[in-house]
Amino acid sequence: MSFKQAYAEFGQLMAYMKPRARTYYAGMIGESLVSAALAILLSFVIQYLLNYAVHRDPSELQRAVYLVCGTVGVLSILSPICNYLFLKCIKITMGEIRTELFGHIARIDYRSAESRHSGDLLSRITNDVQSIEMTYAEHIKSIVSQILLFIGSSVVVFIVDWRFALVLLALGGFSVLLNTRFSAPLRRVSDELQAQMGVLTERIGDLIAGLQVIKLFGLQQRAGRLSHDAIAAVSRSGIRQGHQAGLLEAGNFLIQFLSLGGVLLIGLLMVSSGQLELGVLGQIVQLQSGIAVMFLSLGTSVAMMQNSYAGLTRIREVLAVPVESERHALQAVPSPEEKTAVRPDAALQLTDVTFGYDANRPVLKELSLSLAEGTVTALVGPSGGGKSTVVKLLLGFYPPDSGTVWLGGRPAGSCTLQEIREQMAYVPQEATLFQGTIADNIRFGSPDASDSEVEAAARAAYAHGFITELPQGYDTPVGERGANLSGGQRQRIAIARALLKNSPILLLDEATSALDAESEHEVQQALQVLMKGRTTLVVAHRLSTIENADRICVIAGGRVQEEGTHEELLAMEGQYADLYHLQFRKKPPELAVS
Ligand SMILES: Nc1ncnc2c1ncn2[C@@H]1O[C@H](COP(=O)(O)OP(=O)(O)O)[C@@H](O)[C@H]1O
Ligand SMILES: [Mg+2]
Repeated sequence: MSFKQAYAEFGQLMAYMKPRARTYYAGMIGESLVSAALAILLSFVIQYLLNYAVHRDPSELQRAVYLVCGTVGVLSILSPICNYLFLKCIKITMGEIRTELFGHIARIDYRSAESRHSGDLLSRITNDVQSIEMTYAEHIKSIVSQILLFIGSSVVVFIVDWRFALVLLALGGFSVLLNTRFSAPLRRVSDELQAQMGVLTERIGDLIAGLQVIKLFGLQQRAGRLSHDAIAAVSRSGIRQGHQAGLLEAGNFLIQFLSLGGVLLIGLLMVSSGQLELGVLGQIVQLQSGIAVMFLSLGTSVAMMQNSYAGLTRIREVLAVPVESERHALQAVPSPEEKTAVRPDAALQLTDVTFGYDANRPVLKELSLSLAEGTVTALVGPSGGGKSTVVKLLLGFYPPDSGTVWLGGRPAGSCTLQEIREQMAYVPQEATLFQGTIADNIRFGSPDASDSEVEAAARAAYAHGFITELPQGYDTPVGERGANLSGGQRQRIAIARALLKNSPILLLDEATSALDAESEHEVQQALQVLMKGRTTLVVAHRLSTIENADRICVIAGGRVQEEGTHEELLAMEGQYADLYHLQFRKKPPELAVS
C-alpha cells in the first residue's frame, strides 16, 4: 500500500472527527507525550539511581527524587485533562456516526430495505462502528506515542552514547522489513474476519427470530449446522489472524531479545573495561526497546487501523444505500385514455399499472382498480397473485413501472410521499410494536394525542378491556415486538394506532388472517369501527370477512380477473365462486345436483 493511499484512508477515518479535530489532537498528543515522557524520564531516574549505587554521591539520589516528584506532579495534572478532552471528542464523534447511520437506515428506500438482511445491517452498526472507535481511542494514540518515544529515546541515547544509538537504529531497520512482510496478510485476514462477523450476526438474527419455528420442528440440529458454517468461518479467520499475529509477535520477541541481550552484553563488557558508566548502561537498557521495536509495534497499530478502515468502508456502503426520494418521479405523463378513466369519486385509483420487483418479471400487468370514496373494496385471490404488491404501490413504497397511481384525482407523482402517507392508515398482517409502553405504541398514530384520546382510540378498537386488565394498564411495557401480548391484542393496538391517526384511507392487508377465530372476531369488530366513513381496501384470505364489501376484486396473475359484489360474483360462477365454495366446503350447485 502506498503512502498516499494510507494518507487518504487516514483522512477518511478522521473526517468524522473534523469539527473537533483540534481538541482531539491536542488531547491525543498530550496523552502520547505523557506516556513517552514517562518512559524517557524513568530512564534518567534509573541512571541517577545506578550512579548513586556506584558512587555513593547523595546529589545523584536527590536528582532522582526531584525528578520523580516533578514528573508525578506535572503528569497528574496534565494526564487527566488530556484524557478528558480526548475521550469527550471520541464519544461525541461516535454518537454522531451512530446518529447518521440510524437516520439513514430509517430513510432507506423500501426496495433496498426488503433486499437486505437486517443482521448484516446490525453487524455494521455494531462491530464496524466499534472498530472505528478503537482507531480513535487506541490505535492513533499508540502510533503517535510510539513515534514520540522513538524520537525521544533516539535523541537521548545519541547524546549519552552514539554507538548504541546506531546499533539500535539498525535493528529498527530490520524490524521494518519484518513488519512489511506480515502487515499485508494480517490486513487481508482482518478484512475477511470483519465480513464474516457480518454473516454470523445475520445467522444469529435468524436463529433468534425463528426460535419458535426451530423448536417446533425440532430443527435445533439443522439450525445449529447453519450457524455452524458461519461460526467455523469466523473461527478459521480468527485462527489465521492469530497465526499471522503470532508470527509477528515472534519476530517482535526476536528483535527485543537481540536488542536487550546485545545492549546488556556489550554494555557490561564496556562497563567492566571502564569505557561506560553503569548508570548510562541502565538508561540505555530502559530506552532500547522504544527504538528497536518501534517499527514492529507501529506495524501492528497500522494493521489494526486498516482493519478499522475496512469497517469504515462497510459503514459507507450502508450510507450509500439509496434513501427514499421525497416523491416518486412520474414514470410517464398519464395517457389520455388513463385521464378519461379517472373517476371523480375515486379516492384512490390505479390505471394500467405494470410493476415488477425485477424489471423483466412483471407482478402486476396493466392493472386498473378504483376505490370509490367512503366505500369498502376487497381484494381476494390466490396467494402470490399481487395483492400485497398493490398495497405497497398505494403506500408509495414502490413506484409503478408504467401506468399511474391516482390520489383523489391527482397523479401520485405530483404528491410527496409524506402527503400520500398522511392520507393512509395501514394495518398489516402482523402488527409492529416498538419498545415502550402500550400507550406509547398507540400514540405512534398521533404523537401529540392526549391520554384520553389514546384511551378513546383503545376503547373503539376493543382494546381497552384487555389493557386495563394488565397489571400496569396503559403503562405496561410491550416487550420485544409485543412478545407478551397475543396476536389479536397486538392487532387491536395497531388498530387503535390507526384510529388515532384518523386518516381518510385505510389499507388492511390480511389484518386478521394470522388470528384464531375468537381473536379474529374481536379484531373484526374493531376493524368495523375503523372502517366507518373511510375509503377502505381490504385484502383478505377468508372470504367470510369481506362478504359485505361494496365491491370485491379478484386478483390473479397480476390482473383484476373479476369484480362485483359478493352476490354478483357468486352468480358469475367464476374464480370467486370457486374460492367461496372451496372455503365453505360447499359443493358448487351443479355438482350437488349430480
Ligand atoms: N420484495 C419482493 N421481491 C421480489 N419479489 C416479490 C417481493 N414481494 C413479492 N414478490 C413476488 O411478487 C408476487 C406477488 O406477491 P404479493 O403481492 O405478495 O402476493 P399476494 O399478496 O397476493 O400473496 C409473488 O410472486 C412474490 O413472489
Ligand atoms: Mg400478501
